[in-house]
This record gives sequence, C-alpha cells and structure tokens, in this order.
Amino acid sequence: MPEGPNQPTVLIECDAEAATARAAEMVQSVICEAAAGRGTCCMALAGGTTPHDLYQQLAHTGTDEQVPWSRVQIFFGDERDVPLDHVESNYNMAQRTLLDHVPVPPSQIHPMRGDADDIDAAAAEYEATLRRMVPSEDGNLPRFDLLLLGMGGDGHTASLFPRTPALAETERLVLANPVRVLGRKRITMTFPLINAARNVLMLVTGEDKADAIGSLLSPSPRPVEDLPAAGVKPTDGKWILILDAPAARQWRRSAE
Ligand code: 6PG
Repeated sequence: MPEGPNQPTVLIECDAEAATARAAEMVQSVICEAAAGRGTCCMALAGGTTPHDLYQQLAHTGTDEQVPWSRVQIFFGDERDVPLDHVESNYNMAQRTLLDHVPVPPSQIHPMRGDADDIDAAAAEYEATLRRMVPSEDGNLPRFDLLLLGMGGDGHTASLFPRTPALAETERLVLANPVRVLGRKRITMTFPLINAARNVLMLVTGEDKADAIGSLLSPSPRPVEDLPAAGVKPTDGKWILILDAPAARQWRRSAE
C-alpha cells in the first residue's frame, strides 16, 4: 500500500454479506455522529449493484430512534443518462431499496438529472444545489459528512472512468463527463468534491475487482488516468475501504 497521508483504512471481511454488514454499521454510526454533532448529515449515495444490499440493510433501521434519517440530506455521486424511474437509474435503485423505507423528507433528497436534455446545465445546477445545501468549512468546498463510492473492475469510481476529461477537473465539483466506452455523457462528482469529504466509504466486493484493488493498494498504483479510484485522496477526511476476501485476494497475495 502506498505510504503517507490520505491512504485508506482497509477492512477485509470474509464475504460480500459481511462486508455489507460492516459498511451498514459505519454508515449508521456516521449519520448518528453527524446529526448529533452538526444537526444534519449530508450524505452522497453510490450507484451500481454493490450498494443494493447495503441500502436494503439500512432500510431496516427505518425508525428515527435507530438512525436520525429526518436529519439526513441525500445526494448522489453520479447518475446514468436515463429517467429517474428507469431500472438503470442510481436514484431509482436507492429509492426502491432505501429511500422509500426511511423517513428522509422528500425535500432532502436531491437526485441528479442524468437524462436532462442539457446535461451540462443539469450538472452545473446540481453543483449550485450542493453549494447551497452542504456546509463548507473553508468557505469554498462543500464538505460531505459521508460519501459512498463503489469501484468498477476498470478502477472507475462514481462516473470517473479511465481516460475521461473529468479526471483532471480541479475547479468544478459536478460535471457531465463524456464516457467514450459507454458512448454517453454521465453526470458525476469530481475529485475536488470527493476529496473534501469528512468520511469516504468505498465498498468493493467480488473477484472481478481484485486486479484493480491489487493495483490501488500496491506501493505504486497505476496512474489515475488508468485507475481513477487512485484519485480518491481525502484531504483531511477518513478514507475507509471495505473489501470482501475475493476483492482483496490479489493484494493479499502480493503482500505475502
Ligand atoms: C454506477 C456507479 C459506479 C459503480 C461501479 C461499481 O453508476 O455504476 O456509480 O461507479 O460504483 O460501476 O459498480 P458495481 O457495484 O455494479 O460493481
């Protein structure tokens, strides 16, 4: 694993179920701590399939006594270019598994409009909403209490795919990123916003992620252009990486 600041705390569980349970515990703990300490918890959800079971587990903590959901502001790390009611939508997945089951007021749920006709304007509008709703400590960057991320087998995270323009963004916080491999533009948070978070929690499971994890945690990871997850370097936040054994296999073998 690379030495130095902004390196992840790596937690390895035997299987996806245990990794998901560990992630659910951490999410609940951060929400409770943020709500108690700051009166609200600004949280960004990840998309894809990995968080599906995580959100279902969190949905069982649906009473405000267990988790102060009524204090949570929900945002999204990225969105596909489909309507919000489309089965491929990250918002739709989160709504079905979590948001329909916990008492987050609808006014506190902020979907990204990945299907907007003018997706660049939609990205700019989302950034403006973020800047309005998520408190900043340095007077500039909104600081999420919790930012959930996944990772693809190619090392992408959110919709920051290898060799795409958004990887190099240093000013804008949300962009419509042209993803050649998908032939689409996708709205995504950028690294300046991700790395300003108090807590970044990345949940990665499955053998198909082992090569990317092996590189990410090696002393010399592939460059961000080829392995975007290597761009996750919280400035002074916590960076927790929860893996199951299959996803950690290559890294563990190289560490032996
Ligand atoms: C998305 C996600 C994306 C996801 C990875 C991993 O829109 O798909 O934001 O970054 O986290 O692609 O996806 P899986 O969890 O399905 O492997």
